[in-house]
Amino acid sequence: MKEQIKQLSAYQPGLSPQELKKKYGIEGKLYKLASNENLYGPSPAVKEAIVNHLDELYYYPETGSPTLRETISADLNIDPSRILFGAGLDEVILMISRAVLTPGDKIVTSEMTFGQYNHNAIVESAEVVQVPMNEGHFDLDGLKNAIDEKTKLIWLCNPNNPTGTYFTHTELRDFLNSVPTQIPVIIDEAYYEFVTASDFPDTLTLQKEFPNAFLLRTFSKAYGLAGMRVGYIIAAEEAIEAFNIIRPPFNVGRLSEYAAVAAYSDKEYIKQIRERNAIEREKFYSIPEKKYIYPSETNFVYVTASRPHDLYQELLKVGCITREFPNGVRITLGFPEQNDKMIEVLQRFNFEE
Ligand SMILES: Cc1ncc(COP(=O)(O)O)c(C=O)c1O
Repeated sequence: MKEQIKQLSAYQPGLSPQELKKKYGIEGKLYKLASNENLYGPSPAVKEAIVNHLDELYYYPETGSPTLRETISADLNIDPSRILFGAGLDEVILMISRAVLTPGDKIVTSEMTFGQYNHNAIVESAEVVQVPMNEGHFDLDGLKNAIDEKTKLIWLCNPNNPTGTYFTHTELRDFLNSVPTQIPVIIDEAYYEFVTASDFPDTLTLQKEFPNAFLLRTFSKAYGLAGMRVGYIIAAEEAIEAFNIIRPPFNVGRLSEYAAVAAYSDKEYIKQIRERNAIEREKFYSIPEKKYIYPSETNFVYVTASRPHDLYQELLKVGCITREFPNGVRITLGFPEQNDKMIEVLQRFNFEE
């Protein structure tokens, strides 16, 4: 076994709703609002697509998900050879790390961002450099200063999980301008479809100028397909060719590919999800306690609190399972009823204690 595996642990899921009910003596339904899934689920077209392909389960999937690749490349007007799929972005992050990192290399990222960048770097015996956040935002200048000759990957998350904040097109462009062109800058846009800010980066356009900018997107969040496991990277063709060598041949299932094609093609549905999400999100910024909430462009909000466990428990009491962090609680937006209840909790919670 690799020595560094000993310093890591397997992914720890939170307690199940049944376990939580027992532990805290809660009655009634508990809503899982801890993993930023889309509670509204996928487009209705997805179910039909899955049913239509149920008789093909004994076949392996088409390697490389060609139908999905054609669908996305035609829509984005990019060459299909620039896209590669994984069993969720989790697998894409693993493939990138595996393809690029060797012992002694470094990755540079921020503190308080998606944990899989670090996890996979450590597995590959690379060193993790984490730059402190700036009020819940990526400190891009700090990241730039942390780069040295050993840096082989730079991980950005935009908007960021768990803080929900984003950096703008201009900020990303300036950052890309300042980074040595041989270092891949991975921009994880898992929450892209929820963004409403007009100055959010157009990363596809920036890729024309900066071929070292790699873009990640997923079907797990706004598309409501977390259970199907489909994520993708858009990058320069040579990089995709290398990652494709690492990719397990049948990594994305047949039904997952068809589900993703149907979900991607229903643009009206995603527009509705974005609009509904923005309305619900805005409610959290209409109360005085908004001063404890980082500005969010996602389907979750991060509430800073000195007693995160107390806040977590109060939210649990109104039926909402959220996610606790050392200096706050991340709340995935629920249906309006849950959001209203959680907002009431925030309004009566003593943040100053
Ligand atoms: C920023 C970010 N990247 C990647 C992922 C992994 O997503 P998936 O593997 O479901 O595509 C998540 C999931 O929470 C995430 O928040």
